[in-house]
Amino acid sequence: MPAWKTFLTLALAGSAASCAHHDNGEVVPEHERAELLKKWDQEWSFSGIASFAHLKPVKCLIEPDEHYDIAIIGAPFDTAVSYRPGARFGPRAIRAASARQMAATSYNTRAGLNPYQSWAKITDCGDIPITPFDNGLAERQMYEAFLELGSRSIVNKAPKANGIGATHPKLVTLGGDHSVALPALRALHQIYQKPITVVHFDAHLDTWNPVRYSAYWQSEQTQFNHGSFFHKASREGLICNSTSAHAGLRTRLTGVDAGDYTNPGPEQGFIRVHADDIDELGPMGVVETIIARTGIDPEQPVYLSVDIDVLDPSTAPGTGTPEPGGWTTREFIRILRGLEKLNIVGADIVEVSPAYDNKGETTALAAAQVAFEIITSLVKSGVDEELGGWYGWMEQEEKKEKMESKDEL
Ligand SMILES: *[C@@H]1O[C@H](CO)[C@@H](O)[C@H](O)[C@H]1NC(C)=O
Repeated sequence: MPAWKTFLTLALAGSAASCAHHDNGEVVPEHERAELLKKWDQEWSFSGIASFAHLKPVKCLIEPDEHYDIAIIGAPFDTAVSYRPGARFGPRAIRAASARQMAATSYNTRAGLNPYQSWAKITDCGDIPITPFDNGLAERQMYEAFLELGSRSIVNKAPKANGIGATHPKLVTLGGDHSVALPALRALHQIYQKPITVVHFDAHLDTWNPVRYSAYWQSEQTQFNHGSFFHKASREGLICNSTSAHAGLRTRLTGVDAGDYTNPGPEQGFIRVHADDIDELGPMGVVETIIARTGIDPEQPVYLSVDIDVLDPSTAPGTGTPEPGGWTTREFIRILRGLEKLNIVGADIVEVSPAYDNKGETTALAAAQVAFEIITSLVKSGVDEELGGWYGWMEQEEKKEKMESKDEL
């Protein structure tokens, strides 16, 4: 029996023993409870209350005894956007769109692993209750929440547990506008006590000096917006300047030359892979460029930040600042799979704004798939065997079988 099943069985048995009382004080016999489970403990993909991937939802922030290896956390915040609002509804939409990610049916063919039936305990920790009235306060609420959730002790030691992330739970945030990455980085910097490598997928740089929006009307709070949070994060020393990368870039700029793009400053901490580069490099070339920059170092924590607008508006129309000419979902999934060996300690999927999505949930589906690929990588990085995955795995097995049958002849 896999570990997660043992855990489930024990958890259920535990609850049966501790609180199995009828209202009238009679104890429900064990066999009756087992019978009920056999009969009713099933969910269809389209049924159930919408947690991410049908995971057990827990309001972890008010359950200090709740522990997990990977936490999914919603950050419904969108009062720092420059164009379309609405990403406060992102977590709900992504959760709803994750409905077909059931533990029983989530073997990731590309990765060779079912992340929901492996060593890791994954919990949907619900949403951070973020105020929509005061962004300064919102920043603080998010920081405190990420710090609390990321500081808890883990449940299961990964079979292959090494490096700086081995004893901390991993956080996957469903945004929210992109500025939620700033409090997340502050918390990770606090937990890991070193600048974080940021791999940033986006049509936009998000490293702009806030004066870009208005040089005249400035306040402390105008600096906290969804186009300048990496500028702020860099100035605060949260981002590692020699290992970080932007990828998928293709935005219009201010002014009459490329100064808005190439101006010196903290944005120089990132290399830049443009959306168009995929035509020359191919998805695996994009992967190689990124890994050449980040390296693969178990002692260096990586934050993976995915603005869904990295995808073309034809695949992800429901977003805050759409830019035509982006990547397809297939290309992006392939790039994400290529990055599975990175030492990811935290990730976000942001800027899903469901009001601009279509009836087929195109954007939310893409975001749920991105979360699935990231969660798969987090779990796979702790597995102590070479799983391979779709790329090469099937073919290798076939070859091995052929070789073996030849040997027998
Ligand atoms: C990265 O560069 C920026 C701008 O030069 C600087 O403010 C920041 O402290 C640097 N970060 C680290 C971690 O050294």
